[in-house]
Amino acid sequence: MGVEGGVTAAERVLCREEDIAEGTARGFAAAPGGFTGLFAVKKEGRIHVYVNSCPHVGLPLDMMPHRFLDAKRQTIICSAHGARFRIADGICVTGPCIGEALEAVPHRIVEGQIVVPAAAGL
Ligand code: FES
Repeated sequence: MGVEGGVTAAERVLCREEDIAEGTARGFAAAPGGFTGLFAVKKEGRIHVYVNSCPHVGLPLDMMPHRFLDAKRQTIICSAHGARFRIADGICVTGPCIGEALEAVPHRIVEGQIVVPAAAGL
């Protein structure tokens, strides 16, 4: 997609990879002109990025900012009605949208920064 080693005009930087501690998540505002934010989770050293919209009725998952994981940090949880999603692939494993999935966002790491397509979430 982009130029190796550089962030292109078609991408945006979310944050530095090291800004997300292992087993935690962080939310990001919508891109300019958009309404839907993104969030990223770090699990076992890997970053997973999803659109912050629950497949149940489209609400943001975090009623409290950055609160995307259950107490044991094993699944992503939607605070609206309690749907739980696998961190690795965003599939809903329990709750009202079981079998549906969060929208995964492709990302790459550029000089320690998490970079996603600028249009992600639009
Ligand atoms: S909006 Fe997420 S479970 Fe209902």
